[in-house]
Amino acid sequence: MAVDLLLGLQWGDEGKGKIVDVLTSKYDIIARFQGGPNAGHTLVFNGKKHVLHTIPSGIFHEDKINLVGNGVVIDPVIFKKELDKLQEQGIDYKKSLLISRKAHIILPTHRLLDAASEASKGKAKIGSTLKGIGPTYMDKTGRNGIRVGDMEMADWKEKYRALADKHETMIAFYDVDVQYDLPELETEFFESLETLKSLTLIDSEEYLYQAMKAGKSILAEGAQGSLLDIDFGTYPFVTSSNTTAAGACTGLGIAPNKIGEVIGIFKAYTTRVGSGPFPTELIDEIGETMGRVGHEFGATTGRPRRCGWLDLVALKYACQVNGVTQLVMMKGDVLSGFKTLKVCTAYNYKGTTIKHLPFNIEEQNVSPIYTELPGWNADLTDMTEASQMPKALLGYIEFLEKELELPITVVSVGPDRKQTIVR
Ligand code: IMP
Repeated sequence: MAVDLLLGLQWGDEGKGKIVDVLTSKYDIIARFQGGPNAGHTLVFNGKKHVLHTIPSGIFHEDKINLVGNGVVIDPVIFKKELDKLQEQGIDYKKSLLISRKAHIILPTHRLLDAASEASKGKAKIGSTLKGIGPTYMDKTGRNGIRVGDMEMADWKEKYRALADKHETMIAFYDVDVQYDLPELETEFFESLETLKSLTLIDSEEYLYQAMKAGKSILAEGAQGSLLDIDFGTYPFVTSSNTTAAGACTGLGIAPNKIGEVIGIFKAYTTRVGSGPFPTELIDEIGETMGRVGHEFGATTGRPRRCGWLDLVALKYACQVNGVTQLVMMKGDVLSGFKTLKVCTAYNYKGTTIKHLPFNIEEQNVSPIYTELPGWNADLTDMTEASQMPKALLGYIEFLEKELELPITVVSVGPDRKQTIVR
């Protein structure tokens, strides 16, 4: 049985949470493979909004297994808060949530280090969510990290102390103003760890191998987006994990030849939070309208997202790197009301027209070349059938399909589970 992947193709916030939730009924297991609580996956159903940060978006379907894979980094404090919220809503997660012993733990000092590192960068800051993601992955690759399974070992508190002490030295080295009360943070951390320890901790790669052998269907859920990938994103303005398809292999222990469908999600326009290049950004009334109509505020940090036209050069690159087999277009409804829509189909790169994403897409090197398409002026939010779509929306979709050489199989026209058109 193959594992299907669900990935964001832009700079994150494409709406993966909603689509995983919609697709969950087709799968037995939903497995998150990278990132941490820097992500905010929003789901809306029965008139209520739910935001998940680390827990897979299948958790609201109690008959499904939700797995937090080895590639994820877990902040026990945020994790406990997520669990408490689920409990308040009457979700019994005890049997349906599994945690990889190989997932790394975000310590309170990782968060402090993130803040110190960003503060030291001044204007060159990444715009990190300051959740300790970068420092935790640095300790992972530096072979100093503490994993979930380490908590079952007798000597783990000594390991913790040595690492936290080292972090404090590093924070002092940055010589910036980061105020903290570590004993207070540690009290909350150790209390929350008890909750994490009470969950089902597993050797997840073995679990998934056996599940595949037994014919179980698995959906691997990514976080962030391809353009934030540590290798293929707009480095250094990226996150610290592989958000692309390969990350599902390393973040879950799934062999590449076991990957089935690669479902890529994109917004009908583009957004980005944090710093970094964004060729189609609109710092004008149109961008402002997209942000307002699309409620473009970070689910984790509440920061306003930068908005702009759809960038097909970047999107095509993401489809290539991931081996996308089908596309999901989100937030089609947000583009309603624009007389003309622009889509970036090439870049002017230092005076030459190119159709691929170059090494350096900084503003001084790249300006977008647009194709204009007619807009539509209809409320899409009640539509449930492809036949109800306005002609111009269909034209927009067909144009993208031709350019990307891939089918758009799902179009989302609102945040609710029900506002989803399958083509
Ligand atoms: P970090 O991963 O928190 O260090 O953030 C690094 C960059 O990735 C920043 O520009 C963040 O705004 C961005 N980022 C991290 N997680 C998300 C996400 O879930 N959605 C959108 N952007 C994100």
